[in-house]
Amino acid sequence: MNNSVKKILTVALSSLTIAGYCYADNSQLLATAPTGNISAGKKSMVVTNNPWSSQAANKILNQGGNATDAAIAAALVLSLTEPQSSGIGGGGYALSYYKGKTKAYDGREVAPASANPSWFLDENGKPLDFRTAWLSAKAAGVPGEIAMFYKMHQDSGKLSWKKLITPAIKLAKNGFPMSPILYKELNEEKDELAKDPAIKAVYFDKNGNIKAIGQTIKNPDFAKTLEQIAKDHNNFYKGDIAKNIVNSINQKAGTKLYTMKDLADYKALVKEPICNKYRDKYTICSVPPSTSGGVATQEILQLFANKYKESDVNNPAWVYTFLEASKLSYADRNQYLADPKFVKQPVDGLLDKEYLANRSQLIGESAMATPVIAGIPKGIDERYAPDVSPKPHGTTSLSIVDKDGNAVSMTVTVENVFGNHQFVNGFFLNNELTDFSFESVTTSGKPIANRVEAGKRPRSSIAPTIVFDENNKLHAVAGSPGGSFIICTVARNLILMLDLGQNPYQAAAYPNFCAINNNPIIESDNTTADSFAPYLQNKGEVIERKSIFSGEANILRMNDEWVGGADPRREGLAIGQ
Ligand code: DON
Repeated sequence: MNNSVKKILTVALSSLTIAGYCYADNSQLLATAPTGNISAGKKSMVVTNNPWSSQAANKILNQGGNATDAAIAAALVLSLTEPQSSGIGGGGYALSYYKGKTKAYDGREVAPASANPSWFLDENGKPLDFRTAWLSAKAAGVPGEIAMFYKMHQDSGKLSWKKLITPAIKLAKNGFPMSPILYKELNEEKDELAKDPAIKAVYFDKNGNIKAIGQTIKNPDFAKTLEQIAKDHNNFYKGDIAKNIVNSINQKAGTKLYTMKDLADYKALVKEPICNKYRDKYTICSVPPSTSGGVATQEILQLFANKYKESDVNNPAWVYTFLEASKLSYADRNQYLADPKFVKQPVDGLLDKEYLANRSQLIGESAMATPVIAGIPKGIDERYAPDVSPKPHGTTSLSIVDKDGNAVSMTVTVENVFGNHQFVNGFFLNNELTDFSFESVTTSGKPIANRVEAGKRPRSSIAPTIVFDENNKLHAVAGSPGGSFIICTVARNLILMLDLGQNPYQAAAYPNFCAINNNPIIESDNTTADSFAPYLQNKGEVIERKSIFSGEANILRMNDEWVGGADPRREGLAIGQ
């Protein structure tokens, strides 16, 4: 974030009491990051990728709300203040720890009833180029956010549904300042966005330029939409909002892709989380498929723990072991993971101790040749071939712990920046269906598990995570955006905090790296990454350096306080009390 806006945001936030900053025990630790990116508190902690949503969540906690209430209020503000990344026109996943029980929520978008395996193929049967597919009406899945929030609120909310929506309504009416990242993303998509007068009315000035950083953005249509949802969440799925979504998609497509039934039929799912022991000490809980994020993150962690027992963050051998583990985990993910309603999921097989012990034997002294092939765990669906679609930022993550020790990790998304760029009632529709494989079969005719099918959820990489210590006490909360890199980002942050002694900010700021079933990609322009790159090359790794996006939201119990760390690559704010 540039200094002038950091100043605007700091001034705007100066009325907040960030009580955690006073605790002597963690005072040195708090100096490890720029103001706002780290905080400590004995009672509660909020970390999101945007100051307005962190502020809203903290306010809800101060009004007597719990972690669920705060997470919902924060995410609704994000729909307004970070519309490039998430919103009520999209979906997401959450993991909740409430009164001692952990539950996973799947609010993933669903393909409409008209969808079929050739959804993203052109008239010659060839996959569409990504941008064409991304900006098409066909990219939009039935949004899941509101249904997921409502379900979470019914299960564990404390304040009224209406109260959670109020901060976003007020901010939409009164306005908030343009942030540097929103400004940059709007400019990158300016020509496309300028085609819609409703988008121009919110984000452009009178001269046809994107509003300047710090200039006020108001979104009255979004305020009206939220008022409808505050009266009854079903207004989103059955009323005028639903009608506008259906009409907008069908108009853009020039054909009837969507019906009102597609929206009315949407259901957010509640599932048992995947929980496994890590290093015989921690219990790590994740969200099960339709996201591949939980299983794949846990597979990396277990493979890593089998091969690496030290705790020195400066020993580059840990980076090497991590990258090799990621090659193996991504190969399995690509082969097997998809919506369990359509494809049998070998979750237990992939995380079975013996399977992982055998698979970790493949991590040797020199780099594994790529591409790496999947293992054969128990419980697979033999009909399917691995995903072959390469995937190219439109996601955000938040982590919250309340004063009663309840927690939420939530990652919400519109997939790519501003979703498919369709703006309905003041919010953007997602392009989540481009997370399906565009090809439906391999060249040898074998179907791909993650192909498009009616009513199916596209495979995600999202990985909200909650960690408990050896006494089953809440220990850490983590999650990140970043597309298929999410799996590596979350696994790496957990290793940095649990094994390598890094605080939540240091972990979030650490260089990004991942080997997505191929050679490693390492974040560019990063001196720490420059320092371990030669070691990896000596091991035979063929490295590509490029910028890798993330937005990790970490919370860790340290010295009996909650310490929150926000990823410096985003505009995050940690608030402890
Ligand atoms: O669900 C997924 O895995 C992707 N649609 C997430 C996209 C994402 O994280 C973009 N990032 N910054």
